[in-house]
Amino acid sequence: MQLPPILVVDEKPDMLSALCDALDSVGFPVEQAASGSEALDRFKTTRYSLVITDETAAGISGLPVLTSIKKISPQVPVIVTTANGSVQNAVEAMQAGASDYVLKPFSVKDLQKTVSKIIGRTKGGDGGRNPSIVAGRSGAIKQIITEDSALKKMLALAREVAASNATVLIQGESGTGKELLAAHIHRHSRNPQAPYVAVNCAALPDTLAESELFGHEKGAFTGAAGRKIGKFELAGPGTVVLDEISEMSMPLQAKLLRVLQEKEIDRIGGTKPVPVDARVIAISNRDLKEAVAEGKFRQDLYYRINVIPFRLPPLRERKGDIALLAEYFMEQYSQLNGKQNMRIGDAAMKMLASHPWYGNVRELENTMERAVLICNQDVIAPHHLMLDGSCEHGGDREPFTAKTGWTVREMEKSLIFHTLEEVEDNRTRAAELLGISVRTLRNKLREYKEELGEAK
Ligand SMILES: Nc1ncnc2c1ncn2[C@@H]1O[C@H](COP(=O)(O)OP(=O)(O)OP(=O)(O)O)[C@@H](O)[C@H]1O
Ligand SMILES: [Mg+2]
Repeated sequence: MQLPPILVVDEKPDMLSALCDALDSVGFPVEQAASGSEALDRFKTTRYSLVITDETAAGISGLPVLTSIKKISPQVPVIVTTANGSVQNAVEAMQAGASDYVLKPFSVKDLQKTVSKIIGRTKGGDGGRNPSIVAGRSGAIKQIITEDSALKKMLALAREVAASNATVLIQGESGTGKELLAAHIHRHSRNPQAPYVAVNCAALPDTLAESELFGHEKGAFTGAAGRKIGKFELAGPGTVVLDEISEMSMPLQAKLLRVLQEKEIDRIGGTKPVPVDARVIAISNRDLKEAVAEGKFRQDLYYRINVIPFRLPPLRERKGDIALLAEYFMEQYSQLNGKQNMRIGDAAMKMLASHPWYGNVRELENTMERAVLICNQDVIAPHHLMLDGSCEHGGDREPFTAKTGWTVREMEKSLIFHTLEEVEDNRTRAAELLGISVRTLRNKLREYKEELGEAK
């Protein structure tokens, strides 16, 4: 719920405060470090959601900070800030595991956008969408948990094909673990240390899409102030994940087809093609074949990316995994919140087993996280799941209903978490809806956290 702070590292005090101000002004919690070694000391004792480091932070240069951080917590994303013109450094940073780079002098808007995109990703949430790194809030690499024989076979097959360079297409309903499977393939690929660069095609504005993917030369078009390296080049010999590929515009589809066929890209304004070596994983939660039939997706591109297809089964078709995943998430989130000895009561387990899970594993994960936070005792009961009345198709938003047997305290907590969920964690909006001040909301959330700490 509450975002861990962002650690900003820069040896220049002016730059440090400019970066912090830019993030603070849009409500990101920030902490600063004036040198690389200070950053590492802090990093060892505090959990951060993201690190933004200058490429040459004092004491220890930026890239070693990046590599040290990646050794301690490989899942924490790192953005490297680099002086304008040193695009080569940006490429090196990406290859050393950075999630993105920001050229200095930076534009406040671009910085905010890059950060939101990456934070959205690590939250496993929407918007910027998942992973450069698929990681949980606990920071551990997210595992694919299953006892389902069909899914297990699929994972084994994925491991086998991971070693080839063939294009992979992953389809499946929302929340079934498509991004997790893409990361799994990357981890078992020929170059697991190489960058994993994810692009959400639905979030790419038409005008910028081509340059995002393939890059541009300085002055290639009005506003192209410097050279930009596209995602395909940044990935090097790693993996490019094209998420929500069904949303790609027709002209861009034509260009992508050419890239896949020729294995080279044309930077906008460039004079000669640049060879690319990255493996491509395309993801879609729409049936691409249908999109082809509707004339929204090029048939030739479909055949080109459909070399090795995977279709993740929805949770309701692998009911055996429900209890397993529920226990797994309960343990993850109780550990994360310092709670011990929690368990899922029989009645709650029955309710979980019979829920339709149209939002699939993501809905189950959210449900268990919320249950752990709401439950003041050791045993999770049906009302902590807040699943009542949510059996209609239509996603993971349940109506809020209170039941006899709840304490007033539990009801207050449930209402607050429910509201936060509805407004996607926008505290100002949540406070408005709840009729309390943002400060009161913040205090209440802190209290709940402390309670959890004391319950240890
Ligand atoms: N088998 C699994 N084991 C553990 N966690 C899982 C599993 N499948 C999915 N998850 C978790 O569920 C959430 C959703 O998974 P993911 O983001 O990969 O889904 P998706 O198919 O890409 O969804 P969308 O189409 O909405 O983007 C993530 O937090 C992921 O870690
Ligand atoms: Mg996804």
